[in-house]
Amino acid sequence: MNVSIPKETDPSEKRVAISPDNVAAFAKLGYDVRVEAGAGESANFPDSTYEKAGAAIVSDTTEIWSQADLLLKLNPPTMEEASMIREGATLISFAYPARNEDLLKALGEKKINFLGMDCVPRISRAQSMDALSSMANVAGYRAVVEASHRFGRFFTGQITAAGKVPPAKILIIGAGVAGLAAIGAARNMGAIVRAFDTRPAVKEEVKSLGGEFLELDFEEDGAGSGGYAKVMSKEFIEAEMKLFAEQAEEVDVIITTAMIPGKKSPVLITEDMVKSMKRGSVIVDLAAEGGGNCELTEPGEAKVVHGVNILGYTDLPSRLPTQSSRLYGNNLFKLVNLLGTADEFSIDQEDEVVRGALVLDEGKLSWPPPKMEVSQQPAKPKEEPAPVTEEKEADGPSIFSPGMMLGLLALILLALGWKGESEFLDQLTVFVLACFVGYMVVWNVSPSLHTPLMSVTNAISGIILIGGMLFVTGAEPWADTKSILAGVAIFLATINVAGGFLVTHRMLKMFRKE
Ligand code: NAI
Repeated sequence: MNVSIPKETDPSEKRVAISPDNVAAFAKLGYDVRVEAGAGESANFPDSTYEKAGAAIVSDTTEIWSQADLLLKLNPPTMEEASMIREGATLISFAYPARNEDLLKALGEKKINFLGMDCVPRISRAQSMDALSSMANVAGYRAVVEASHRFGRFFTGQITAAGKVPPAKILIIGAGVAGLAAIGAARNMGAIVRAFDTRPAVKEEVKSLGGEFLELDFEEDGAGSGGYAKVMSKEFIEAEMKLFAEQAEEVDVIITTAMIPGKKSPVLITEDMVKSMKRGSVIVDLAAEGGGNCELTEPGEAKVVHGVNILGYTDLPSRLPTQSSRLYGNNLFKLVNLLGTADEFSIDQEDEVVRGALVLDEGKLSWPPPKMEVSQQPAKPKEEPAPVTEEKEADGPSIFSPGMMLGLLALILLALGWKGESEFLDQLTVFVLACFVGYMVVWNVSPSLHTPLMSVTNAISGIILIGGMLFVTGAEPWADTKSILAGVAIFLATINVAGGFLVTHRMLKMFRKE
């Protein structure tokens, strides 16, 4: 059985379905890999790299299409390409079944099995095959690169001999796959990043990437089914647009990725907001293909309106063809691996991933698949009312109640003050004050470099160190028991402090990139 990779014919497409790295993996599953001559050229994979990896190069386009058993592609085939596929073959590519009716009909007549990479369900088991996420990840990164290319300043702040450069401020709307990739890239370039999403669940992810999560004083969770967002109420959209209007005046770059699958992208940036932005600012509208999140976006175009660059590129993954092809090739391989080896190839509809991706089953339309309810967040367990435990009514207040304890302490102190010797009272005062000051010092140490436990023990050791030093006195401290004990305390506390730093250093090293 062969796996065939034709050249993408869309003139703006630079990607190729698999990279040379995937060839050996397909061969291991028993497939003969055939690649059309020049297929990987624009992605910087010349034919020789596929040949070296063990693939056969086919220069005749009709041959690659008509003799293919399993066709692997990026974009859906054109009608002309579809006419070349042999009857009964299997095709895997992006399908966009909702808008490709004629194509599905043509493929259906040829009894083709068609699996759509865009139809792979977004469930954890299928993450390695989720080409939409892989491409959105690339698009998010590239959006930042495009923005920085258009923007007239650094993204990072600098203080140079020639003057101070403030860091750029970037607002990211929609913290899904593309949005999070954009946050990561923009933070790495040194910008101040703010992000907003209708799903509060992404707040921690935004923060872990170094972004600031903007919040609305509005109770509505945007988490829907299938791992996607749901359509928000009119009131919510109005409230978030008010927030964006305030932000537009402040930020230098806006990257919008807000979308709900199958729906028109919500318009969140109006012309008035664009007008309020500084000249030279940039808007990158990733949702351009679905109509755009900015009122002025033109899909596929870059234009300047009111001094603001508005980029509506719809080919962002193709602008990083080498990276995208590698990731897409890996996604494809994982899906083919699920279908089986060359000898045991089968389309198992019992498998929810395969069933979800299947658009045509031997020519029969099998899209949309039966609904599969997946929520990104586990459903909240119904709150069981806590069992009511009958509290025993004590006859009177217990001796261990805080009030009683305080009263007792006050009585003891009063008795000591009445009868105690003045030297003892002095020592007691110092002791009580030392306990109070020590407690305040230790518990107010913020664990910035250590774990909280280590910070507290190090703070205690620090106090012991200072106390010990004060007690080492006299010309011959080794002859004095008090000084010897203080010396031992200093030694032990030093071990704790130094050990704390050593352990922390090792922990930090684990997270440091080589
Ligand atoms: P995603 O579904 O992972 O993320 C979209 C995010 O937008 C979700 O987190 C959702 O909660 C949020 N959202 C929805 N409505 C919102 C609203 N009203 N306000 C704020 N946030 C809202 O989608 P993914 O994979 O990150 O893709 C994002 C967009 O990028 C899509 O429109 C996709 O088509 C597009 N894309 C564009 C490419 C290009 O070349 N221009 C390439 C790849 C993807």
